[in-house]
Amino acid sequence: MRIEIPREVERFGPIMFYDTQKVYELDSGLRNTKDEKLESTMTRISYESFQEIQKQMVIVVPVKEERIKLIEGVFYGIPHNCLIIVISNSPRDPIDRFSIEKNALERLATFMNKRMLVLHQKDPVLAEACKAAGYEKILDKKGVIKSGKAEGMILATFLAVISGKKYVGFIDSDNYFPGSVHEYVQEYSAGFHMAKSKYSMVRISWHSKPKIMENSLFFAKRGRASEHTNRFLNSLLSHYIGFGTEIIKTGNAGEHAMSMDLAAQLDFSSGYSIEPYHFISMLERFGGITKPIEPQVMKESIELFQIESRNPHLHEVKGDEHVKDMSIAALEVLYRSPVAPEGLKKEILKDLFDRGFLEDKKTPMKDKVTYYPAVMFADLRKFQSALANQPYADLIHGDVTKYVDYKQSVEGLNLKQSDIKRSDPGRLAIK
Ligand code: GDD
Ligand code: MG
Repeated sequence: MRIEIPREVERFGPIMFYDTQKVYELDSGLRNTKDEKLESTMTRISYESFQEIQKQMVIVVPVKEERIKLIEGVFYGIPHNCLIIVISNSPRDPIDRFSIEKNALERLATFMNKRMLVLHQKDPVLAEACKAAGYEKILDKKGVIKSGKAEGMILATFLAVISGKKYVGFIDSDNYFPGSVHEYVQEYSAGFHMAKSKYSMVRISWHSKPKIMENSLFFAKRGRASEHTNRFLNSLLSHYIGFGTEIIKTGNAGEHAMSMDLAAQLDFSSGYSIEPYHFISMLERFGGITKPIEPQVMKESIELFQIESRNPHLHEVKGDEHVKDMSIAALEVLYRSPVAPEGLKKEILKDLFDRGFLEDKKTPMKDKVTYYPAVMFADLRKFQSALANQPYADLIHGDVTKYVDYKQSVEGLNLKQSDIKRSDPGRLAIK
């Protein structure tokens, strides 16, 4: 792959937000290809580099009631060397849709000659493992893992961390184009190839999203929720930087990947707010706006790449109400953050009111989102032992010592949990 270097970078404490990067060649050859003078504005990633990175990568596919043909299509696109973890929350009753999915995917896995994890979000064994790890917050009243895309992703992050791999990426299961899935994983890998820090994140900015408008195809640039999320995230950065910025283009990016060192340390929020909350969690925890919480991360940089894909992104249309809920949740995590200035909160209320999503612009937003501490705060050893008798245990028997060390160094600061008091705006504190 040949990819341009980022034109702009915004620095925020240790966090480096890179501007979007365009891809100039999807495939640019082998490592020892005699390259013509390599332009200083381009990075070339060889075929071999992709393989090396992908051997260390977990790809998570969250599923809930998607058409089997679509899920299968996603699998055709994922490069062979990645370890795939599917977390499904499809109904098991009256028809056991999960069994149908599992059966279809295991058949594909046979043809692909690889093993993968296909698990149900409500599997009691997984709930027990979370309980053993002291991570009960993710369980519902029935004692199983709560529903929601974020909850599925958090569970998958636990499994990815204990697999011992270095990177984790997420790909939605409702994608119509296997070619775009393949491209996203290549771009995650390209980001990790370019990263200098062990803390890095790659987010995909779609080149276009095809829609039918007036009987012909129209290639829209951004999704409906993203426009608003990006605007407010940029306002937040501008507030602290003191200069206007439009650097964030991927506020809602469902297609994203992280180095495991970063994935284990970021807090989460529920449902569809999880992706915008990555930005907020980074600013809250490592932005240095108030008290620095984890000095060892503060000393290193955190690199955030935004890569513009070439394939169009076509997924299932899930309706206006869904987009509305997603947009409200995205803005709620910003609104409730202790780093959000009062002026920005007022603008958020006005924006939601103007779009008809709120009845008035004076009443504070209702608290609907739940927050979850970073995976490293759980007892990962107990989580791993609780799954030691499962048939897939050999895929998740990585060494977790380093994450246990992270936890201990944070606890050494007498900070027991990562939960930030949200009722206490303007000051970061640990419960
Ligand atoms: N495991 C699990 N559990 N998966 C779920 C759940 C759940 O409760 N709910 C939804 N999913 C899966 C879906 O099957 C799909 O593969 C993926 O999560 C995304 O859900 P969609 O319902 O298709 O979301 P979307 O397309 O509207 O939004 C996507 O793109 C946004 C950016 O535009 C999501 O990835 C958003 O998180 C993202 O912000
Ligand atoms: Mg979708």
